[in-house]
Amino acid sequence: MKMSKLVSAKDMLAKAAAGKYAVAQININNLEWTKAAVITANELRSPIILGVSEGAGKYMTGFKTVAAMTSTMLEELGITVPVALHLDHGTYEGAKKCIESGFSSVMFDGSHYPIDENVEKTKELVAICNAKGLSIEAEVGSIGGEEDGVIGAGECADPDECKRIADLGVTMLAAGIGNIHGAYPADWKGLSFETLAAVKEKVGNMPLVLHGGTGIPDEMIKHAISLGVAKINVNTECQWAFQKATRAYIEAGKDLEGKGFDPRKLLAPGYEAIKATVKEKLEMFGSVGKA
Ligand code: 13P
Repeated sequence: MKMSKLVSAKDMLAKAAAGKYAVAQININNLEWTKAAVITANELRSPIILGVSEGAGKYMTGFKTVAAMTSTMLEELGITVPVALHLDHGTYEGAKKCIESGFSSVMFDGSHYPIDENVEKTKELVAICNAKGLSIEAEVGSIGGEEDGVIGAGECADPDECKRIADLGVTMLAAGIGNIHGAYPADWKGLSFETLAAVKEKVGNMPLVLHGGTGIPDEMIKHAISLGVAKINVNTECQWAFQKATRAYIEAGKDLEGKGFDPRKLLAPGYEAIKATVKEKLEMFGSVGKA
């Protein structure tokens, strides 16, 4: 039961792929976000992956701060479910920095490179991660929209290219299947299950990653999981939940009552709203009770 150290995402994803559920990657921005995610996962006995974009890492003063804060927090809180600290959409240099800074997992997003270069760079990072027992995610195709400066056209992945990257021994593979970071436009055509099935056919048991988890209808999420998705990333939805709850607190004038200006009080509704969002995602992805 004792497990307050950060772990690689390898085991939790292999179990999720075999058990037909998905592990949530919740992107974090600060201490409140991190605490909300790990406490909720622990309460629900679910594994969890904390995603950190390069922008969020910089905001939190650097990857070493993030790794130290997170690993110490797990210990101080006595968290006993598996928690992985994962770089989201990393550059080659960013991935190397996270590996040296105490992250337990990295994503190298080489999807904007020509495929040979993506293969080459992914291969180098796989060797480093394997030697250190860290998990690694790679990407083929691209995720539409924008996240912390990472912009993608949203093209669907080529299944043969996915196989080339999967064969390098990555832990998990993000394949673009019409998914988008942030809000989905009203005329969105939905996920391309045809692409997902074709990718799955080529990569076998490789756990697949669905980015852009915000705003995907539940039935599409469930169908994607049945076709091999074992990790789903959620970022914007927690930001919206935090923003709405904080706005309501201030609009109700609560910050002006008594000691309502105390940052611990001011941030509490947003924190609770993130917890509720994380709970909803863990339940929908089917990872509750799997730790
Ligand atoms: P959303 O912001 O759309 O939830 O996407 C999160 C994500 O894919 C992180 O990489």
